[in-house]
Formats: sequence, structure tokens, C-alpha cells
Amino acid sequence: MQSKVLPLEEGKDHVPLNRTNQARPLPLRLLQLFVLFLVLCVAFSVVSLYTIRRFGVDSALMTVKSNFLPCLEEFNISLSEWIKPSVNLMHSMTDEELFWRASFSPQIKNYPFERVPKIAFMFLTKGPLPFAPLWERFLRGHHALFSIYIHSLPSFKPNFSHASVFHGRQIPSQVAEWGRMSICDAEKRLLANALLDINNEWFILLSESCIPLFNFSVIYKYLKESKYSFVGSFDDLGPYGRGRYRDAMAPEVNITEWRKGSQWFEVNRKLAISIVQDTKFYKKFEQFCRPPCYVDEHYFPTMLTIEAGDVIANRSLTWVDWSRGGPHPATFGRRDITEELLARIVNGQNCSYNNGTSSICSLFARKFAPSSLRPLLRLALDVFGY
Ligand SMILES: *[C@@H]1O[C@H](CO)[C@@H](O)[C@H](O)[C@H]1NC(C)=O
Ligand SMILES: *[C@@H]1O[C@H](CO)[C@@H](O)[C@H](O)[C@H]1NC(C)=O
Ligand SMILES: *[C@@H]1O[C@H](CO)[C@@H](O)[C@H](O)[C@H]1NC(C)=O
Ligand SMILES: *[C@@H]1O[C@H](CO)[C@@H](O)[C@H](O)[C@H]1NC(C)=O
Ligand SMILES: *[C@@H]1O[C@H](CO)[C@@H](O)[C@H](O)[C@H]1NC(C)=O
Ligand SMILES: *[C@@H]1O[C@H](CO)[C@@H](O)[C@H](O)[C@H]1NC(C)=O
Ligand SMILES: *[C@@H]1O[C@H](CO)[C@@H](O)[C@H](O)[C@H]1NC(C)=O
Repeated sequence: MQSKVLPLEEGKDHVPLNRTNQARPLPLRLLQLFVLFLVLCVAFSVVSLYTIRRFGVDSALMTVKSNFLPCLEEFNISLSEWIKPSVNLMHSMTDEELFWRASFSPQIKNYPFERVPKIAFMFLTKGPLPFAPLWERFLRGHHALFSIYIHSLPSFKPNFSHASVFHGRQIPSQVAEWGRMSICDAEKRLLANALLDINNEWFILLSESCIPLFNFSVIYKYLKESKYSFVGSFDDLGPYGRGRYRDAMAPEVNITEWRKGSQWFEVNRKLAISIVQDTKFYKKFEQFCRPPCYVDEHYFPTMLTIEAGDVIANRSLTWVDWSRGGPHPATFGRRDITEELLARIVNGQNCSYNNGTSSICSLFARKFAPSSLRPLLRLALDVFGY
């Protein structure tokens, strides 16, 4: 018994013995550590000095910040930190990753914070925004109530000043061709990027030739109080409507459900998510709706009529003039802009709104040529109220 215990005891005894034995080399180790520390310090100083000389103080400060700030906050993140949208809209997500992320939606109805719903203005453009000065004026003073997203040709380099509401609002973009699925992809990309901000509630697709027809308060109220989303959708029995339907689209799409409508939509958050997450209809349209079936005129109107027909108003909010005939709507240039024209656009119609009638039918109008900017700026206060 004892012989078994003894080695254990011996072992215990050996521990302090070893410690006392090692007591002498310890200062040497400390010294080694100290020297190593010194070397590291010197190396760090040299690298810092070099960075500051080479790249300026800013970048050195930035790296220091980005290294230390998260450490401080990491342990106590508030909800507002979690849901705060990224200031930088550029990201490296693929469409597949982006659409997946954007399809998240809360399952608890009430927000545990005071949510101020915003309008997401989504510009689908080739490049420049000639009416930026008009939009700037329209948006002035309403920063908490809107967000801007721009999808342009990937090669386009925007040139907005830091003070502009359009500065840094470009989203990762790809080439989009009118009438092809790539244009719907671009629209989905705009929706998905805008969905990443939980406060965006109304999503409006606009082009570079669009202008707002009322002041911000009127437009915000109109959207907020509407029971419906504004997606143009009608059953066109002719060759340019049902004529573009293919039987192969059944059973997902029956010809009686086939719709046509303007590309320029307004949808609420719920419908935006249903568009972004759709794969069922997407496959059918991608395969069977090719020119002369212009997919941007059919995909969203048909899909939303099937999935949410009772919550869309079946009309677009964007006024356009087809009265001149031909395949393209009228474009208004400098000489066309008169108070009479604008008054006709603003009050020329009555339409249904929440089961009643309203003299406000369109909130935006197209198509305007860049040359019309100056007369529009001159008349905007009188006829549009901004
Ligand atoms: C986290 O933040 C809250 C609110 O700011 C504060 O009341 C709480 O004491 C903090 N907790 C820790 C562990 O720092
Ligand atoms: C960008 O804008 C500034 C001022 O608005 C102008 O001076 C400059 O020439 C522009 N650059 C390009 C490449 O358009
Ligand atoms: C916006 O226009 C409406 C109607 O013209 C007007 O009653 C309202 O005062 C305007 N709001 C602002 C902030 O200018
Ligand atoms: C479309 O629906 C109608 C009834 O609503 C039905 O009679 C018809 O067979 C359907 N067509 C296709 C292609 O499924
Ligand atoms: C829009 O059209 C659908 C059918 O296509 C219909 O069920 C719905 O009631 C219409 N919406 C409004 C607001 O009239
Ligand atoms: C719209 O309705 C009002 C009142 O019902 C009417 O006075 C007006 O003429 C109508 N406007 C148009 C363009 O039909
Ligand atoms: C509009 O009218 C339809 C049918 O009359 C009704 O079901 C619906 O609830 C009404 N919507 C609103 C917003 O009043």
C-alpha cells in the first residue's frame, strides 16, 4: 500500500523542488521576453511611421480605429446596432446570397422600437441622373424618411459631391438589357439592397427621366395611407398582351392570369420580399418570356396578380404620355415644358384610391429630357409645391 502511495507523494514533493530549481534561470527568461517586446515595439513604430509617411495620417488612424473600436462595443451591442444598415452600400454578396439575406422578415408583428417607415427611391439608370438637382430640392429636409439606391451600368463612375443625397448610393450593379430578364434581375437587386434596411417600407422604381409631381409630404402621406401597392396590371387580350403568353407557362401561370403593366412600380415591404424570394415564376418567365415577349412588362404584374391580386391597385404611380402613338412614349424637352403641360399632368385625371376617388393619380412622371431641367426647376415651386 505504502509503496503505491509513495511515488504519488514523491511526485508532489518534486513539484516545489523543480520550482526552486528553476528559480535561477527565470530572470533570464524575463529578460528574453523583455527584449522580444522591445523588438516588437520598435518594429511597430517603424511600420507606423512608414504607413503615416506613405499613406498619410488618415489611413493609420483608420486602421487603429478599425482594430480597437469593435473590441469595445463587441460585448454590449444594442438592438439599434444590430439592425443599423451599413453606411457603405457596396458589398461582395452574389445575387443568390443577397436575395437570401434580403428575404428575412420579422415574425413578430410589433417592432420593439419606434420604427419610422421610409420610402426607398430606387433608380434604375444607365449612368448620370440629369434631374438630381430637382430631386435634391424635393428631398430637402426629409432625411429621416427616405433612402436612395442607384443601379447603373457597372462601368459608370458617379460624380456626386459629398453633400449630395445621391453620394455613395450606388449598389453593386450588372449590365441590364431592356426587355430581357437581366432588367428584372437589376430590379430585384435594387429591391434586395433596399430591403437590407429594416425601416424601408415603400419601394419605388424610377428611371433617370422621372420627376416627382408633388412635395414630399403629399407623396409620403399618399403612400402611407394607401391600402394598396401601385403596380400596373391589366389583362390585354391583344397580340401584345395575351399574344405573348406561352402554354408552357402552365400550370404556374394560366392564360387568364397573364397580365401586362408598366415596369415602374411601387410595392410595400411584404410584396418586395415576395418578389425577391420568387423562384417559381422566375424560371417560367426566364425560359418562356423572351423578346418579343418583354419580360419587364409581364413578370411582376402577373406574379403579383396571382400571389397578391387583392393588395395591388393595378395602376402605376408614374405618369407617361402614350398619346403620340408608336412603340415609345413621348419625351419632353425644354420647349415642351409649360405650366399648362405640367398642370395637365398633375390634375388631369381622377382615379380610385382606397375604394374612393382621388384627383391625385400619379406621383411621378416620365419621360423628360435633360434639357428640360432648367424650366422644371423654374416652375417646380408653383406647380409641384417644392
Ligand atoms: C450595456 O449597455 C446598457 C445600456 O447602455 C447598460 O445599462 C448595461 O449596463 C451595459 N452592460 C454592460 C455589461 O456593459
Ligand atoms: C465631377 O464633378 C466636379 C464638380 O461637380 C467637376 O468639377 C468634375 O469635372 C467632375 N468630374 C467628372 C469626371 O465629370
Ligand atoms: C405640400 O403641399 C401641400 C399641398 O399643396 C401643402 O398643403 C403642404 O403645406 C406642402 N408641404 C410642405 C412641407 O411644403
Ligand atoms: C386555365 O383556367 C381555366 C379555368 O379557370 C381552365 O379551364 C383552363 O384549363 C386553364 N388552362 C390551363 C392551360 O391550365
Ligand atoms: C386588381 O386586379 C385584380 C385581378 O386582376 C383584382 O382582384 C383586384 O381587386 C384589383 N385591385 C383593385 C384595387 O381593384
Ligand atoms: C374629377 O372629379 C371632379 C369631381 O368629381 C370633377 O369636377 C372633375 O372634372 C374631374 N376631373 C376629371 C379630369 O375628370
Ligand atoms: C374596398 O372594397 C372591397 C369590396 O367592396 C372591400 O372588400 C375592401 O375591404 C375595401 N377596401 C378598403 C380599403 O376599404
